[in-house]
Amino acid sequence: MSLLICGSIATDHLMSFGGRFKDSLVLEQLDKLAVSFLVDDLEIRRGGVAPNMSFGLARLGLRPVLVGAAGDDFTDYRSWLERHGVDCSFVHISDTRHTARFVCTTDSSMAQFASFYAGAMSEARLIELQPIVDRVGAPDFVLVAADDPEGMLRHTRECRQRGFPFIADPSQQLAFSEGDLIRDLIDGATYLFSNEYESHMIESKTGWSADEVLERVGTQVTTLGADGVRILARDAAPVEVKAVPGITAVEPTGVGDAFRAGFLAGLEWGFDHERSAQVGCSLAAYVVETVGTQEYTFTHDQFVDRVRTGYGEHAAADVAANLR
Ligand SMILES: Nc1ncnc2c1ncn2[C@@H]1O[C@H](COP(=O)(O)OP(=O)(O)OP(=O)(O)O)[C@@H](O)[C@H]1O
Ligand SMILES: [Mg+2]
Repeated sequence: MSLLICGSIATDHLMSFGGRFKDSLVLEQLDKLAVSFLVDDLEIRRGGVAPNMSFGLARLGLRPVLVGAAGDDFTDYRSWLERHGVDCSFVHISDTRHTARFVCTTDSSMAQFASFYAGAMSEARLIELQPIVDRVGAPDFVLVAADDPEGMLRHTRECRQRGFPFIADPSQQLAFSEGDLIRDLIDGATYLFSNEYESHMIESKTGWSADEVLERVGTQVTTLGADGVRILARDAAPVEVKAVPGITAVEPTGVGDAFRAGFLAGLEWGFDHERSAQVGCSLAAYVVETVGTQEYTFTHDQFVDRVRTGYGEHAAADVAANLR
């Protein structure tokens, strides 16, 4: 059995400029704009939702299969992920485009110039899942996260057609998508993941009520930031799980991805929704308190202790028995 994690693969290049952009802009000359800033700092961060989730799963001892498209500059990132236990053998490498890249310069007043280059990501639409499944075994789940929209649609349709259980996780892509696309991406999913804001966007864009959404997906998992998570299932009572208490929030980027990784690990270990969400919230807490999405570390005992602090002895014992 396998876990296929489909989604964007990207890096973030973050620069900081000590001055203020507005001091270098000549308003009357905007039609001839050509200005460069000498920046103090460059940080390159690993990102993309699929590697973030795969990294989290691998940290918990699972071996996820990363499905996505990157450029031939993926080499270093690949070794990092493989070193941590992610199967990268099926990543599609573009002949012509670089890996997706977010480039952002922030000045001392937090004003930003940012660009996102989709690059190789747009080749996710060339990936077929069946040949991967032939090699790694039938999927427990195929998670379809934010990516090239054509690619997301192709993966989702292939899952429906071939009967692969899939998880819809359109997140960042929702803002750019029309109702038709969103309906197609979530119809028939076993799980639908989103945060609270996105869950409202799903309802307003699809025109489906909360109940109608639930009729089309088996279970809807909605993260509520520092308030935790709510799980609604078609045929079970609602479940609410609080976030891990007492966490100092440093930088939240990637918390949603970490939650998903922990939740999925819980399902793989045979836990119910409540216990799985506790694993998800515990893993997410590590990301909230570190800068970067794949920079956290813990030992077996540290993770189990965190689960114990948040959710008690039974939860800790269940996790201790499965965590590798
Ligand atoms: N301040 C916090 N303290 C502890 N846990 C947190 C905190 N913020 C978030 N979390 C955990 O992370 C999970 C996901 O958070 P959130 O709902 O903010 O995701 P998101 O909006 O998808 O974030 P992003 O898209 O930035 O990754 C929550 O369910 C919770 O368990
Ligand atoms: Mg999110």
